[in-house]
Amino acid sequence: MNPAALFDLNDKVAIITGGAKGIGKACSQMLAAHGARVVIADFNLDAAKETAQLIREAGGQAKAVACNVLEDSDLTGLVETTLAEFGQINILVNNVGGGGAGRENPATLSVEEFAHVFQLNVFSNWRLAQLCAPHMEQAGYGSIINMSSMSSINKSPAISAYASSKAAINHMTANLAFDYGPANIRVNAVGPGAVRTDALASVLTPEIESTMLAHTPLQRLGEPEDIAGAVLYFAAPVSKWVSGQVLFVNGGGVQTLD
Ligand SMILES: NC(=O)c1ccc[n+]([C@@H]2O[C@H](COP(=O)([O-])OP(=O)(O)OC[C@H]3O[C@@H](n4cnc5c(N)ncnc54)[C@H](O)[C@@H]3O)[C@@H](O)[C@H]2O)c1
Repeated sequence: MNPAALFDLNDKVAIITGGAKGIGKACSQMLAAHGARVVIADFNLDAAKETAQLIREAGGQAKAVACNVLEDSDLTGLVETTLAEFGQINILVNNVGGGGAGRENPATLSVEEFAHVFQLNVFSNWRLAQLCAPHMEQAGYGSIINMSSMSSINKSPAISAYASSKAAINHMTANLAFDYGPANIRVNAVGPGAVRTDALASVLTPEIESTMLAHTPLQRLGEPEDIAGAVLYFAAPVSKWVSGQVLFVNGGGVQTLD
């Protein structure tokens, strides 16, 4: 056994959607710090360029690509650009996601709004996995990591679209592990609890935070790097016999918005 090699990503290329900010940014930095050449795919190109620059200043390799995961031509373009720039694809972090935050009142939510959440959180992930898988198989190493949420197992009011979409991610992950396993591609998911990002800041109040902490053994909310650590585990060869799993990263507890 060569323990250090099990966390070595030096010959790997990773795509991180929503990699410019928040959890995705931490994942981009984490994978790059372990040697991966990273493609930061984000519809905020300026922020993606800033994150890529940070990575290069730290000695890593990174490229920023403008990509809205809701646009199929952007997804196909992302794969083409990654291959043109770095020649292969090994790791896909399907990180973009949104909706929820206790705002999904079924009395007022439209079917179109509900469908949009699934488009963003589920369909785009499935499609990008479909586009990347042949290249992962060709490279002989593939790891797909889908960003789930504690919402996928919590039960709370006014979050039915987001929560069910994240539950769909969990089950999709377990099933795709069967489809892609024979090609030596692993499929796993990370389920964050409440993590300090712009998305959380838009809904967090001091009252909500103290309720969350009362249910959190480790007595703090998550930081993006906490989630990036779990992503590194799934991306690296150390987890080479792990597939179809969801790892919840939540300080040992449950943080909900109600
Ligand atoms: N922050 C939390 O507490 C928390 C908890 C559970 C799950 N999650 C999940 O983690 C993931 C990341 O969340 P975050 O809090 O870091 O979000 P964030 O809002 O802080 O960052 C999201 C990033 O994705 C980009 N983005 C958004 N929509 C996009 C699109 N359509 N195409 C391309 N890029 C897009 C944004 O520009 C931004 O860079 C999401 O899937 C979210 O559901 C977050």
